[in-house]
Amino acid sequence: MTQSNSRNDVSRRKPQGYSQKAKFHVAIVPDGNGRWARARGLPRESGHGAGVEAVRRVVARAPALGIDMLTFFAFSSANWERPHAEVRGILRVLEQYLQQDVRGWTESGVRLRVLGRRDRLPGDLRAAVESAEQATSRCERLELRLALDYSAREAILRSACRLYTALEISPDAFARLLDGTDTPPAPNVDLLIRTGGEQRLSDFLLWECAYAELFFTERAWPDFTAADLDAAVAEFHRRERRFGRVPDAAAG
Ligand code: IPE
Ligand code: MG
Repeated sequence: MTQSNSRNDVSRRKPQGYSQKAKFHVAIVPDGNGRWARARGLPRESGHGAGVEAVRRVVARAPALGIDMLTFFAFSSANWERPHAEVRGILRVLEQYLQQDVRGWTESGVRLRVLGRRDRLPGDLRAAVESAEQATSRCERLELRLALDYSAREAILRSACRLYTALEISPDAFARLLDGTDTPPAPNVDLLIRTGGEQRLSDFLLWECAYAELFFTERAWPDFTAADLDAAVAEFHRRERRFGRVPDAAAG
């Protein structure tokens, strides 16, 4: 007997059971700021300042490449373990970035959202986050997400704990919990770029990267240009994404 209702018809399900959105989501681990600065005899903080310039270049270029959503790993929960002065420096650079660019975002249609814990952020930074999110809430051209005091494991664990009595939940609803928002969940990451030569995820978007194409480059983040983004996206388009299936040609 065949089951014809769509709930049980596996062939009608999307890969992984997610609703596949047409959005193009690129996630970036911008690594190498400190080494970039040290190689120039500069304090590590100047590397973070130069890193913000690279973020600006990529945000400006993204819409032309069809990117709808960009998620940066701006400050991980593990980064609290760095020397206090560096942590302060990074958070100060981020606060200035938000304050300086919010007006430009409203003009160019960039919507800002912040992922991660907010309770441990300095009050001024938290205020800058809230005000930028509010000011850009109607922008629709590009969604720029900054992960601040973010740990993917913690996000997954927190969501699982909140749900421990639920017997079943859809992947979309779970993704919404992970984001900690009431808005539609972020689509899965299509392309993950990590600069600075390391090849690991470092607790970034573990759930969302399940089928991400990974792109690693030796280039330090402050040296990353719009042309480097073009090259990463071109490489992405050359990849064949199969989501566990066979290539179309072999499917018969
Ligand atoms: C990444 O650059 C930026 C942040 C973590 C905020 P790093 O500061 O990790 O630079 P390296 O890896 O020490 O060169
Ligand atoms: Mg690093």
